[in-house]
Amino acid sequence: MRQKLVAGNWKMNLTYPEALALVGEIASLAGESGAANAPTVVICPPFPFLHGVGQQLPQASNFHLGAQNCHQKESGAFTGEVSAKMLASVGCEYVILGHSERRQYFREDDELLGQKLKAALAAGLKPIFCVGESLETREADETFSYIGKQLTDGLFHLSNEEFAQVVIAYEPIWAIGTGRTATSAQAQEVHAFIREQIARAYDAQAALDTTILYGGSANAQNAKELFSQPDVDGGLIGGAALKAADFTTIIRSF
Ligand code: G3H
Repeated sequence: MRQKLVAGNWKMNLTYPEALALVGEIASLAGESGAANAPTVVICPPFPFLHGVGQQLPQASNFHLGAQNCHQKESGAFTGEVSAKMLASVGCEYVILGHSERRQYFREDDELLGQKLKAALAAGLKPIFCVGESLETREADETFSYIGKQLTDGLFHLSNEEFAQVVIAYEPIWAIGTGRTATSAQAQEVHAFIREQIARAYDAQAALDTTILYGGSANAQNAKELFSQPDVDGGLIGGAALKAADFTTIIRSF
């Protein structure tokens, strides 16, 4: 079901004591608000911190634990890998898949992402599936065709029931970690396009029900403007999620 949602992707940052301190600070700051219309908040720390951070999450029921990746198989001889079932067993409810950093640095393609999506769903995790164009693609005026293909090849093979569990994150690669945010109009334009594509692939109700996040240099200053757009349901936050005060401001930016 469509919801207001803010996910903090801590990426490969922090030590365990720092991670516990950060979630503690977020818990105490966010605990002050307790607003009835508070969004769903998903904290996505690195694998070794998941259990400990999960234990420290604010007691408010809108806080959830997420992972940044999972392997496509349930178990087996895959040294160094972590399965979706393992993630669920430590309290994860969400998993980020298809992040541009994984597509770029770990060569994750649509076929592999399809397998990861299925594994996550089978374990009862909600995938946060990322799409987004490079600067080159945007400047060539190919943003919509590129994202349309990412959706068709990467996501729309799911059944209606499976797709209903998915959150989509639009993350223009040129905006990630660069300090160069998409304007709210640029974000809205792509989010509306994504919703149209969902309506075509599934139906109008599925399009209305899907949560679509914006990610890419979203911060405490620009979150309100971005979240005010009709098709922007929240954010996937990187750098600003590592600062408790900024992240809490973002959570309150609806
Ligand atoms: O997953 C988060 C995104 O990659 C955005 O990162 O907020 O540091 O630009 P950023």
